[in-house]
Amino acid sequence: MNAERYEKAFLLLCGAVLVLFMGALAYATLGMGIRLPGRTGVVDPKTVLTTPPWNDPGLRQLGPDRYEAVILAQAWRYQPQEIDIPVGATVTFHVTSADVIHGFYIEGTRVNFMVLPGQITEETYTFDEPGEHRLICDEYCGAGHHLMSGKVVVR
Ligand code: CUA
Repeated sequence: MNAERYEKAFLLLCGAVLVLFMGALAYATLGMGIRLPGRTGVVDPKTVLTTPPWNDPGLRQLGPDRYEAVILAQAWRYQPQEIDIPVGATVTFHVTSADVIHGFYIEGTRVNFMVLPGQITEETYTFDEPGEHRLICDEYCGAGHHLMSGKVVVR
């Protein structure tokens, strides 16, 4: 009967779409390195401003081409607002918020995560090409949300 043939074709199509999606997922995670940012710790948002390393946010060099950027998000700015790194630098970002939920999106990279008060989010990225990347808050965080931005300069 015709109906059976259609049903079979439809089932095959569903299976093919599933395989395609799993393939896309595998390619994104294994091939492109896209994954969820790691939650690496907790910090009390009430005392974060006096808790190391958040009392002194900034960029630190750990070795040749290895950096660590401790960044504090706060309505409505990042601290520090700009980081300067050489081409080829691998930077591990440690980011938290002192108040509400913010975003952390470095334009032109896959670095894009939410910044939650009380949680430390960690993400590592290698900047292979010279240029300037805007750092944008992409979570609505109040009246000054549209002003909340920073810069990553690679030279
Ligand atoms: Cu911070 Cu929007």
